[in-house]
Amino acid sequence: MELRSWSGEWSNFQGDAVVLFTFEGELDKLPEEVEKLVKPFAEDADFKAKKGEILKVPVLGKPFKRIYLVGLGKREKLSSEVVREVAAKAAKRLRDDKNEKVLFVSDQNLGERALAEGVVLGTYRFDRYKSKKEEEGKKELKQVFVGGADERELLVGKILGEAQNFTRDLVNTPPNEINPETFAEVAKKLAEEYGFEVEVKDPEWVKENMPGLWAVGKGSATKPRFVHLVYRPNKGADKKVAFVGKGLTFDSGGLNIKPEQFMRTMKMDKSGACAVLGIFKALGELKKRGLAPAVEVHGFVGAAENMPDGNAYRPDDVIKMRNGKTVEVANTDAEGRITLGDVLAYASELGPDCIVDMATLTGACVVALGEYTAGIFGNDQEFVNEYLKLSKESGERMWQLPLDDELLREEIKSDVADISNLGKSRYGGAITAAMFLEEFVGEKDGKKIPWIHIDIAGPAWARKPYKWNPQSGGTGFGVRTALYFLLKEDQNS
Ligand code: BES
Ligand code: MN
Ligand code: ZN
Repeated sequence: MELRSWSGEWSNFQGDAVVLFTFEGELDKLPEEVEKLVKPFAEDADFKAKKGEILKVPVLGKPFKRIYLVGLGKREKLSSEVVREVAAKAAKRLRDDKNEKVLFVSDQNLGERALAEGVVLGTYRFDRYKSKKEEEGKKELKQVFVGGADERELLVGKILGEAQNFTRDLVNTPPNEINPETFAEVAKKLAEEYGFEVEVKDPEWVKENMPGLWAVGKGSATKPRFVHLVYRPNKGADKKVAFVGKGLTFDSGGLNIKPEQFMRTMKMDKSGACAVLGIFKALGELKKRGLAPAVEVHGFVGAAENMPDGNAYRPDDVIKMRNGKTVEVANTDAEGRITLGDVLAYASELGPDCIVDMATLTGACVVALGEYTAGIFGNDQEFVNEYLKLSKESGERMWQLPLDDELLREEIKSDVADISNLGKSRYGGAITAAMFLEEFVGEKDGKKIPWIHIDIAGPAWARKPYKWNPQSGGTGFGVRTALYFLLKEDQNS
């Protein structure tokens, strides 16, 4: 899709449609020429310009075929979040109505980044496995022009949206196609395409060097892989940021096998890992255009499949992890934290300035916050505050949950090993999981590395369309906030 700024007069636009964004209760403020054209239709359809409301009006005698009025809701409630959502819904409608070339017009600056993100995210479709494409014969939305827009911000928004769609594609790809081996291939291909450094460690290496990752994945016919990607800016960097993603290509629960309703959709247990690849996709595209941040970025994924098997790890097993701590396995379905423990330890050894992990870690987090909001935890409140602030700009909902050394730490003590992979009670399950991870975050220069854990078990997957998610499935959650953060870090340094 082409997304560009437009400086001409809207009434001269040669294309399929002109799209006018308007506020609730302000229809009389539309340009006179528009008002004349649309008023009878607006009255007939009782169009109020409520948030996301769309009115299509045929037009004769103009170089375009139709006008769309798109409601932004109340003027005083306008935010980048509203813009992203409304742009997504408008773009999907324009595509479904077979428009190829359109112009967006508004009497005020709507914020080009959110607008572009919305357009790209709202027209996402995953139909690779449909033999007869549902939308066959339909046209694609090919060119979107935006009146008086900042070209750079449009481009950044487009790149972030497309990177998020790349993540969605990976999450949606079924587990008989993406397994630990093919996941590593995807990472390699991405690195090749954009010139990143990449290291893929084979199962033999994992067995020797990441006992936790190995234990979780050894019951699968496709053994675990470890992936390390590096983006280095041309100009050199003062800061080194690490992203870690949970990469369970499928989570059956293992010997503690999940019941039917819970096993379904567990291909999404690789969402954190796919978000890490999405971050690198965005960095690669930004780099091509000289827009990439001057920050060194490392991506780490332990890819594994959790399966029951004669060779699978068991409840009661004790694993001596990469950092020397011993873990008693209480339940093989609490596997994510075991794989992440080793990967966090490895990431720490490289001495990054900070670590962000993203993981579909616990159902408990979804119970606590609902399925639209991620839980965020951290060992450095300033870092958490900064990330939370950026998540408000990106529109990815996050809410902080506490780490609790005083009382809940007790829950993950084990009688036979240093820690257990399960809390003694199920209360506070998202917190005890986060505190388990904290045991594996290392130090740099004698100080704990600032670390954030984002439990994305809820928002990584959409059960139904909402906001800028036009269909059910993987949402690509986590990519945008990470990029907002990296682009900010660049300005700060
Ligand atoms: N991958 C799941 C968590 C999950 C649940 C992600 C729902 C997305 C949606 C994780 O590995 C898991 O199985 N967690 C268990 C932990 C339990 C055994 C302590 C859970 O949440 O039930
Ligand atoms: Mn599990
Ligand atoms: Zn899992």
